[in-house]
Amino acid sequence: MQAVARATNFLSRVGMPSPRVDAEILASHVLGVPRGRLALIDGFTADQLAEFDALVARRAAGEPVQHLVGSAGFRYLELAVGPGVFVPRPETELLAGWGVTLITPGTTVVDLCSGSGAIALAVANEVPGTRVYAVERSAAALPWLRRNAEARAAAGDTPIHVIEGDVTDLAVLADLDGTVDAVLCNPPYVPSGVAVPADVADHDPYDAVFAGADGLAVIRPVIARAAALLRPGGVFGVEHDDSHGAAVPALLRADGRFTDIEDHRDLAGRPRYATAVRARGVASEHRGER
Ligand SMILES: C[S@@+](CC[C@H](N)C(=O)[O-])C[C@H]1O[C@@H](n2cnc3c(N)ncnc32)[C@H](O)[C@@H]1O
Repeated sequence: MQAVARATNFLSRVGMPSPRVDAEILASHVLGVPRGRLALIDGFTADQLAEFDALVARRAAGEPVQHLVGSAGFRYLELAVGPGVFVPRPETELLAGWGVTLITPGTTVVDLCSGSGAIALAVANEVPGTRVYAVERSAAALPWLRRNAEARAAAGDTPIHVIEGDVTDLAVLADLDGTVDAVLCNPPYVPSGVAVPADVADHDPYDAVFAGADGLAVIRPVIARAAALLRPGGVFGVEHDDSHGAAVPALLRADGRFTDIEDHRDLAGRPRYATAVRARGVASEHRGER
């Protein structure tokens, strides 16, 4: 379509990293057809063209394409997103996928720092019959999380439990301590001084992205929280900054309650998430924990 080609050129000229994908997503949103069927469409009506041009202009000004269409794809799900909630990223699908291969129906899973609910809802969707808890602190993100959880339950997925809480608080889900089969977490992890692209800086919530001077301010307490929550043999996976491929495994080793510590790379070959197994025969009380 001519309008899509024109928008692709425009978005490319203003420096958008994925101009064709963005233009196609916006066009399919306006036309109400899947991206794969765009080639079969003759063109826009005048009203559709005006709406498309307005969306392209907002994208050129830096608004995330997911905010413009109101949703983001994550594994097999389409999740509602917008201002106030972190847009789930493709690289996090790897961590969720790692969890899904190990989680079995009837087990208990905790998603710490749940945001839109991406990881928790993917697990509930792909491993039916799992008890999934999603913990989130942000008052702006929680309505998105609840909305997505309700929509997926209405679509027939196993309902998840949404918990408003601070993942660094030892009291959060303390009643589950020692019983959880899997803890997954995509926390904020960018060091506070690091420059991020304008659409991240302007549209992702600060507390969803940055975590103190070294980027580990949330991961450190999350490791302790995961060690307390997990049963012996339970599994833990945590996404991290690509500069933390050595630091996060070192923190897991230093905790002393994990075995089988590994780091994993993303599709671009960058260190992306660390995994570990809760050791058997090591008490939960450790380094100041209860
Ligand atoms: C990088 S986003 C990840 C969101 C989601 N898990 C995903 O992968 O799309 C991190 C999330 O952690 C939340 N968060 C940050 N600090 C937190 C804390 N101390 N307790 C609970 N949630 C926190 C943020 O509000 C944000 O929603």
